[in-house]
Amino acid sequence: MKVTVLGGAGGIGQPLSLLLKNALPAGSALALYDVNPVVVGVGVDLGHIPTPVSVSGYAEGDLDASLSGADVVVIPAGVPRKPGMTRDDLFNINAGIVATLVEACARTCPDACLAVITNPVNSTVPIAAEILKKAGVYDPHRLFGVTTLDVIRSQTFVAERKGWDPAETRVTVVGGHSGNTILPLLSQVAGADFSQDELEGLTHRIQNAGTEVVEAKAGGGSATLSMGEAAARFTLALIDGLTGGSPVQCAYVAVDDQPTAFFALPVRLGRSGVAERLPYGPLSPYEQKLLDEMIPTLEANIEKGVAFARQR
Ligand code: LMR
Repeated sequence: MKVTVLGGAGGIGQPLSLLLKNALPAGSALALYDVNPVVVGVGVDLGHIPTPVSVSGYAEGDLDASLSGADVVVIPAGVPRKPGMTRDDLFNINAGIVATLVEACARTCPDACLAVITNPVNSTVPIAAEILKKAGVYDPHRLFGVTTLDVIRSQTFVAERKGWDPAETRVTVVGGHSGNTILPLLSQVAGADFSQDELEGLTHRIQNAGTEVVEAKAGGGSATLSMGEAAARFTLALIDGLTGGSPVQCAYVAVDDQPTAFFALPVRLGRSGVAERLPYGPLSPYEQKLLDEMIPTLEANIEKGVAFARQR
């Protein structure tokens, strides 16, 4: 397996690459690309860790070389938000970055699975889809928005509240990856009996957890370490699927039986990316109300991405 991290020297790219260096299957190659030239040194640095995974850093000008032969491309490149900003406020800068990187993927590794982290994910994934369509290489089973951070935050917060082991706590999160489009299905958490106050408090915290980090970092960026962990978990699950496993992960993917064209839901991964989009089960009336309310926002986020990519 070859995994390329676009934005490999950044706040997410570095911890993600460290986790992958330690966990990719023996014989894998890890390529880090970044416009920051320090990426070459980050590659050398990681290369001193004694695991059977080769690492190389590629600076600007070597984007195609970093992508050549990639099976999985993870994209955290872009700028993070500052306090007071929404993820959508990043659109003007990050949309162009994602489009350029996905154009390179389309010409260099058209069969790779792409995992997009760059915000606003609700829009950058539709941008990537349009760019791949234009290049004639779009496969909806191989394009993902990474929403794993919403899942692991839900696990953490629910377990904290209930005094459970977070590793044993399972929460499905559907919708998108911003504000009210993040919908944790707490009614389905096994063994949990939440009061309405608890449900509302937990849902609000999960939906605003990214902002919680942005505010705590006070201008120093957004989640990097928990996002690195989330992205590593998702990447390793993708690789498990590509190599014969059938793990289930929530991810933001193209759908045709949901109210919007892209939607985060549980997917079974396999040798070609998404093997199966899974039903996410019955919603409580409270969750159904939140789902109905998010649709116009999610639809607008998707349309904005599509319009941007079509104008390019
Ligand atoms: C997160 O959920 O932490 C990321 O999407 C970054 C952000 O801006 O919130």
